[in-house]
Amino acid sequence: MKLIWFNSIDSTQDYIKSHIKELMDDTCVLANVQTKGRGRYGHIWFSSLEEGLYFSILKKNLHIEPLSLVVGVSLFKTIKTLYGIRAFIKWPNDIYVLLEKPRKVAGILVEKIKENNIIGIGVNLNQEDFPQDISDKAISLKLFTGIYISKQHFLTTFFDFFYQDIDYFNSHGFEDFRNIINDNLLYKNKLITANDGKVSGILKEVDKDGSIVIEKDSRLISLNAGEIESMMPKETW
Ligand code: BTN
Repeated sequence: MKLIWFNSIDSTQDYIKSHIKELMDDTCVLANVQTKGRGRYGHIWFSSLEEGLYFSILKKNLHIEPLSLVVGVSLFKTIKTLYGIRAFIKWPNDIYVLLEKPRKVAGILVEKIKENNIIGIGVNLNQEDFPQDISDKAISLKLFTGIYISKQHFLTTFFDFFYQDIDYFNSHGFEDFRNIINDNLLYKNKLITANDGKVSGILKEVDKDGSIVIEKDSRLISLNAGEIESMMPKETW
């Protein structure tokens, strides 16, 4: 693995995109701060504090579907191993903890360009506070646990799980990942809504192909990640 570590950059994701031809497989681009960090659906990923962890990995010729869920399991295992806390996987690409209500600690953005996968990961590691608009939705692992974790330590633990999980997927497929996700699925058996209210129902489980299964009027509907935006609980916490 080759690591390129910037102090400040627009987005580690965009750096890989614009240098994709000259970058080797398994290059990891990391930045202490990002000026244009982004999440799914063009959302901004708040990246102006050095206490956050922002990195992207280039994986060429990796044929894993659903990749964001498998990476989510590696991230989930990293957080569980380092902090020993109860964390939750929010389908299809986030990690949450529960502090009165669910709060996001990490997000994953997977983008594909031909046979190249760009896996972007943002983790709220050691931040002490957040901008007002996200302060009740986000939390850092340090705020949640009281433990400081170095970026290097988090990264090496994550990479151990990530490469193990890729090998495991290649020999065993998705089923064991699916079980981990279903055992730790945020909003499981709760009434959820998505796509500005156009989708609603009880969230049941993640399917064999990584789709989400929602029960609506005693019927089960299976939807893939591209079909669902902004899933949230209908009930208050
Ligand atoms: C999401 O929650 O929607 C995904 C957030 C992904 C953020 C990471 S930070 C490193 C990489 N660079 C970016 O611009 N985005 C990803």
